[in-house]
Amino acid sequence: MTQDEMKKAVAIKALDFIENDTIVGVGTGSTVNHFIDALATIKNKITGAVSSSEESTKRLKEHGIEVFDLNSIDTLDVYIDGADEITKHMSMIKGGGAALTREKIVAAVSKRFICIADDSKQVEVLGTFPLPVEVIPMARSYVARELVKLGGDPVYRQGVITDNGNVILDVHNMSIIDPKGLENSINSIVGVVTNGLFAQRGADILVLGSAQGVEVIS
Ligand code: 5RP
Repeated sequence: MTQDEMKKAVAIKALDFIENDTIVGVGTGSTVNHFIDALATIKNKITGAVSSSEESTKRLKEHGIEVFDLNSIDTLDVYIDGADEITKHMSMIKGGGAALTREKIVAAVSKRFICIADDSKQVEVLGTFPLPVEVIPMARSYVARELVKLGGDPVYRQGVITDNGNVILDVHNMSIIDPKGLENSINSIVGVVTNGLFAQRGADILVLGSAQGVEVIS
């Protein structure tokens, strides 16, 4: 299987977690794009979706899936999203697609986070993938200096403005031994909207694609 075939296989498997007549939390990225396409095949069985990005909203609507405002919903049964890295403890780095803040918000409202990923995303220790941090534009340089104090090497993601009108700093060269602690520390820096560590609220289930097939890990 190619990497894209693995992404498609885990996306289709994620349909097993969707109950009839529910609103589904939908993440962002190339794996999720396959999931949205798969969701369209059962669109008459679901009520609709809550989306974590303008990109996913567009794709959902193109498939005729109704997209609800999160403010009109108390809880979601499941949130389906990809990851840039995931550990066996289900902590993740996310935000390669710059959608981390809305992803974290939708995940917070969801009872179960189902991560869909190919096995290139599995790591022992987080941090080889640069950690995205969403920052209020006027705080960019200040936040970058604070991230250096935490041991990182922040790089401004040129030309990218998030759906929330902010910028992204990608923090290189961090070996993340304490993901929950670092998630809190970075979020405490004034001007940070949030960071791409999903450790306080990690995944509950990993649907993992490999050359051998699809495995569900909980
Ligand atoms: C977007 C994300 C994505 O889930 C992450 O980047 C994985 O993307 P892909 O499925 O394309 O590999 O966090 O902000």
